[in-house]
Amino acid sequence: MCGIIGYTGYSEARGILLKGLKSLEYRGYDSAGMAVYHPDFKECLVTKCEGRVEKLAGKSNDIKGSSGIGHTRWATHGGVNDENSHPHKFGGVTIVHNGIIENYESLKNTMGIADKLQSETDSEVAAALIDRFFTGENPEEAIINAVSKLSGTYALAIIFDRIPDTVYAVRNVSPIVCLKNDNGSFLASDITAIGEYSEDYFVLPEFSVARMTKDGFDIKDFNGNAIDIDWMKLDWDIKNNGKSGYPFYMEKEIMEQPAVIEKTVLSRLKNNIPDFSSDKVDEKIFTDCSNICVVACGTAMHAGLIGKELIEGICSVPVQVHMASEFMYGNPIIGSDTLTICVSQSGETIDTLEALKYAKRKGSMTLSIVNVRASSIALESDNVIYTDAGPEIAVASTKAYTTQLSVFYLITAKMAYLRGSLNDEGVINFIEELKKIPGAVKDVLDRRADIHKMSKSMLTAEHTFMIGRGFDYPALLEASLKLKEISYIHSEAFASGELKHGTIALITNDTPVIALMTQQYLVSKQFSNIREVQSRGAKVITFVRKDLNTKDINDCFELPVLEDEFMVVPAVVSMQLLAYYVSADKGLDVDKPRNLAKVVTVE
Ligand code: M6R
Repeated sequence: MCGIIGYTGYSEARGILLKGLKSLEYRGYDSAGMAVYHPDFKECLVTKCEGRVEKLAGKSNDIKGSSGIGHTRWATHGGVNDENSHPHKFGGVTIVHNGIIENYESLKNTMGIADKLQSETDSEVAAALIDRFFTGENPEEAIINAVSKLSGTYALAIIFDRIPDTVYAVRNVSPIVCLKNDNGSFLASDITAIGEYSEDYFVLPEFSVARMTKDGFDIKDFNGNAIDIDWMKLDWDIKNNGKSGYPFYMEKEIMEQPAVIEKTVLSRLKNNIPDFSSDKVDEKIFTDCSNICVVACGTAMHAGLIGKELIEGICSVPVQVHMASEFMYGNPIIGSDTLTICVSQSGETIDTLEALKYAKRKGSMTLSIVNVRASSIALESDNVIYTDAGPEIAVASTKAYTTQLSVFYLITAKMAYLRGSLNDEGVINFIEELKKIPGAVKDVLDRRADIHKMSKSMLTAEHTFMIGRGFDYPALLEASLKLKEISYIHSEAFASGELKHGTIALITNDTPVIALMTQQYLVSKQFSNIREVQSRGAKVITFVRKDLNTKDINDCFELPVLEDEFMVVPAVVSMQLLAYYVSADKGLDVDKPRNLAKVVTVE
């Protein structure tokens, strides 16, 4: 789960590589490095270090040259140190790698290179193999011979000391996008790193080799046949406008939610009925399916859990939600009457991508809800609905989640309309309530100072439990993930009724409990569950739908009033803020929590 970049052209490479690496840093920030071909020394010089891109910038002031490759790392094989940082140079070959080479240990031995390697990484083996196969004549052949020995995933950018001003690239699963302009040619793991240079780009096909020169690309398949480039237009504003005055991207992205939810919803309504014609979605998937599998990871999977409640509750279509990493190992029951819905912000999560491919092999219809345009999951899926969240930079997902939920509301209304589970009036009422969400979220944001005040009591907590019922339980799974990933407080979400089946033993005076109460029909039961933990000494912070509040609840944040199934959005936004304030007040790096990367491209 690393980020790679390459440039060759008419400008100094260093600044372009550093800028691109900065925007790729969300893919990993254990180390950063670059290799630039030095025109006088006639070889590629490597500068790399453990740590972030800023550190690399400080170390690389003297670098000269207009062809180079760069890397930002999330460590998998080999510890976090300078030696294991990329690029790796072996002989006359320098590479950067994203992916995992699974058979690297056996290759080290069978290829007789074990004692010549300088790092513990799987990646250096690829450099050694390419160098071994390169006779000075045919670089493409050397690359193909080397990668045909690899099992696993890879996106490689390669420079040969003997071939100036040229960068080669090859990939299997891990993505590479390419573009060019009058100033040169560029490649990267994703378009956010290079999209500012041109709106015309292409995705390098798997199992092909790209030769990138100052003036463009030659692409050949592994049999040496030229491949026509399939150019695409970037129809997405990828401009990173910085933090817009906020101290962290996460706060900025939380604040953007009313606008991006509105955009995602309103652009897909025709006479108040959801319309996916601009997404080119084949509507038959909504009527031909007799069951649905939602497949995703982390926050995206939590959005799927809400989708399940909505679709089963309103359309009576059975929905199973699967963790993508377990999906194909559990013999899921899918066939041609299954609609598999993959949810992913990045569109690059490898487990979700592999699950999607598996579902297709089983004959399932497929639909993906994706944020990043032309990402691997989007390209692999038969149907795509893009969320309109815009670039999400903070590792903790916020606006991607609420726009994923917005799409699930639209899908539910569309299915209900097409299958007759709601009549016209029912669909219109549903959509009218959906349209109130941005206002409700704005109301929460306007009162964020109250949440900040409440969050102070969490600063010293080591553990917390979150309790809720109905829709509130999957909402709390998301709230809990948010809190633990950025504040490092151990947090677990429970369906309130389940807590007394064991976990209540952990409640003490020092264990704050966060209770969510938005479901009208469950209010008295939830109230009893709050009392149960209070009797065991827990301090309870409650997020309660305003009209369900009673004077018995103190230390609470009142949520705006929407119908039960829509409350999850303002509720989770309020808890995104809670997590954010705890993390920021603890002085943590909110946008880049330890051990994490935004895009998880390893299984
Ligand atoms: O890009 P994806 O939506 O596929 O990513 C899935 C998860 O890795 C992601 O949602 C993760 O759980 C977030 N960092 C949580 O905030």
